[in-house]
Amino acid sequence: MREKNIALRNKMIFVTGVAGFIGSNLIMKLLKTVHPVHIIGIDNMNDYYDVSIKEWRLKKIENIANEYPESSWKFVKGNIADREIIDQIFNEYKPSVVVNLAAQAGVRYSITNPNVYIESNLIGFYNILEACRHSYDNGQEGVEHLVYASSSSVYGTNKKIPYSTDDKVDNPVSLYAATKKSNELMAHAYSKLYNIPSTGLRFFTVYGPAGRPDMAYFGFTNKLRAGDIIQIFNYGNCKRDFTYVDDIVEGVKRVIQVAPEKKTGEDGLPVPPYTVYNIGNSNPENLLEFVDILQQELIRAGVLPEDYDFESHKKLVPMQPGDVPITYADTTALERDFGFKPKTSLRDGLRKFAEWYKEFYMQEEF
Ligand SMILES: NC(=O)c1ccc[n+]([C@@H]2O[C@H](COP(=O)([O-])OP(=O)(O)OC[C@H]3O[C@@H](n4cnc5c(N)ncnc54)[C@H](O)[C@@H]3O)[C@@H](O)[C@H]2O)c1
Repeated sequence: MREKNIALRNKMIFVTGVAGFIGSNLIMKLLKTVHPVHIIGIDNMNDYYDVSIKEWRLKKIENIANEYPESSWKFVKGNIADREIIDQIFNEYKPSVVVNLAAQAGVRYSITNPNVYIESNLIGFYNILEACRHSYDNGQEGVEHLVYASSSSVYGTNKKIPYSTDDKVDNPVSLYAATKKSNELMAHAYSKLYNIPSTGLRFFTVYGPAGRPDMAYFGFTNKLRAGDIIQIFNYGNCKRDFTYVDDIVEGVKRVIQVAPEKKTGEDGLPVPPYTVYNIGNSNPENLLEFVDILQQELIRAGVLPEDYDFESHKKLVPMQPGDVPITYADTTALERDFGFKPKTSLRDGLRKFAEWYKEFYMQEEF
């Protein structure tokens, strides 16, 4: 295990993408478990998917923040690609820890909407790096740890399973993946040049209540409920590491508290305090089984009727461009260094998702 070198208590933490799925859950976790804690969050509330889910998440954060008056929570609606806003936040709040989760996510959307990936994932991330760099100006203590979201997509069509951070990942198969790999390269350069301790996290498919509607399990749910037929890609032979969101934020919280050490090399220059981890379940599930448990849990939660004919609502189809048949994380480094091991079973996680879905979309029907 690596020693914690950052105490989150009383720290100013800046998180981007806080109205997002992982971001909102991380904020709630921090508010509930670190006392006191001071968090500033930004999100541009874009309409890539249903904004009411983002608003719902922010409301939940607000309610939890109200329970802990000794802590502080501030939300800024803004774009990380806007340098002025980012600089203002750094100048005013002087964060010690920065967690960059804001990004344009999604592989398929990047095929038709490349601009927003360049804006949010490259320019936005560059602004964060620049702000971290200048946080040390005039002898200020500055940022102690920058943690940022990368993605399992960087592995492209890697043949070797499980995916390891030691694998060469120079063959992205989508612009989304290319931006995430670029983030890792940019972070490395900034860590080397300005001694910014940075940790990249390659997330593997995260799911849970108030998750992203653009992800397969959510889309399947919408379709099954509407009585449509769902398409299961690669004839159901896709394997994914599905990781429940509570497990993911527990992992992120552990990682935040352990910044890579600053060291000086033989040349007298900083050895970049830089590291990248996979964060996932390391237990790939077959898509067909996943969908089967999902439909059972949707019936249990009352989203689908008891007598739902699942067999007649599924169609097995080939792969989509940009998709990869199997993503499966080698997470031994995360377990070794942080004792991180996801513990939520697929059934429990999908049960919570189904119950949330029922409450969010179907309350008024009863
Ligand atoms: N959820 C997953 O399975 C998964 C897998 C791999 C990587 N990731 C990465 O993890 C991070 C969080 O993912 P998520 O699932 O919570 O996605 P999400 O889309 O729910 O959250 C991202 C949030 O960032 C905001 N945002 C986007 N561009 C912005 C900008 N320019 N300025 C300010 N806010 C902006 C969005 O409004 C959104 O609320 C992302 O970087 C994503 O690429 C997620």
